[in-house]
Amino acid sequence: MPRIFSGIQPSGELHIGNYLGAVKNWVQIQSLHESFFCIVDLHAITVPYEPAVLRERTQAMALTLFAAGLDPARTSVFVQSAVREHTELQWIFNSVTPLGELERQTQFKEKAARQEQVMAGILNYPVLQAADILLYRADVVPVGEDQVQHLELSRVVARNWNARFGANFFPEPKPLLTPTRRIMGLDGQAKMSKSLGNTIGLMETPEQTWAKLRPAVTDPARVKKTDPGNPDVCNIFQLHKAFSPEATVAEVDRQCRSAGWGCIDCKKVLHANMTAELAPIQARAQEMSAKPEGLRDALGDGAAKARTAAAETMRQVRDAMGFA
Ligand code: TYM
Repeated sequence: MPRIFSGIQPSGELHIGNYLGAVKNWVQIQSLHESFFCIVDLHAITVPYEPAVLRERTQAMALTLFAAGLDPARTSVFVQSAVREHTELQWIFNSVTPLGELERQTQFKEKAARQEQVMAGILNYPVLQAADILLYRADVVPVGEDQVQHLELSRVVARNWNARFGANFFPEPKPLLTPTRRIMGLDGQAKMSKSLGNTIGLMETPEQTWAKLRPAVTDPARVKKTDPGNPDVCNIFQLHKAFSPEATVAEVDRQCRSAGWGCIDCKKVLHANMTAELAPIQARAQEMSAKPEGLRDALGDGAAKARTAAAETMRQVRDAMGFA
């Protein structure tokens, strides 16, 4: 039975990069196979943080995931720290993970460069990620492009453990990518990312999203409205492809190349389509926030299902490794 697993950090509001790269796809495939979606709070503590803020953000992330369409009747949504086997398996995997593989991870190098004192957790981060996935013996991992290298490491871990303790016990998990696997930030410079402040949050009001879209970077060669543009190099066009109907995308392409529309005209159309997609999600979030016990119960059920699957894997791992 193939399984789907993926995770998201509770590091602030879910943005349209997370949504288009991962969460929207999670909603679409949640009932194709048995699926688990995890809010990875243990991953969020490798950088300085406030405990009260973490707790709040974990709850807010859960609310957003359900509002975006994850359905507790069809999938398991849970908080990582509620299932202790994640950390147990992570320790075990440390013993089959070559240090060199961790040191060459791009995200490790980037994060380490930004920190004054580099904690070991940043280096070991992808080992915990491998444990997340393999604890459920998942083979399909729907993620954005920035997670592909971490998944390669998960395959190395699975292969090494299997070679030592049990052929084919862990499947080698594969990324499942979408056409929107890499959403650029509004600055057009780098991928959309909370830490770069170039995001649009899923819960932002139409006024807030317009305030961000209006000055967003487009084709830099298009200085005046009368200059024809090249949609292929324009981030706004990429967002049209994600939010607008096909006929509109074709129209945008035509109007941009012929300088029929200015960039503001084009952004107004995008804004309308984005608002249409986000409005029902925001309305559901509003409804759910009035009933916090519903959220608690859904996370509780998700964790219970996750614990059952995790306990079964760990029983076999412990047995294979010679633990009493
Ligand atoms: P995180 O929390 O940074 O991101 C969650 C998901 O969103 C995707 N994503 C993007 N996709 C397209 N364009 C973007 N600009 C963009 N920004 C983020 C990410 O690729 C991801 O799929 N290490 C993981 C969390 C994790 C995990 C796991 C994922 C922990 N354990 C096990 C999969 C399986 C992370 O920090 O994702």
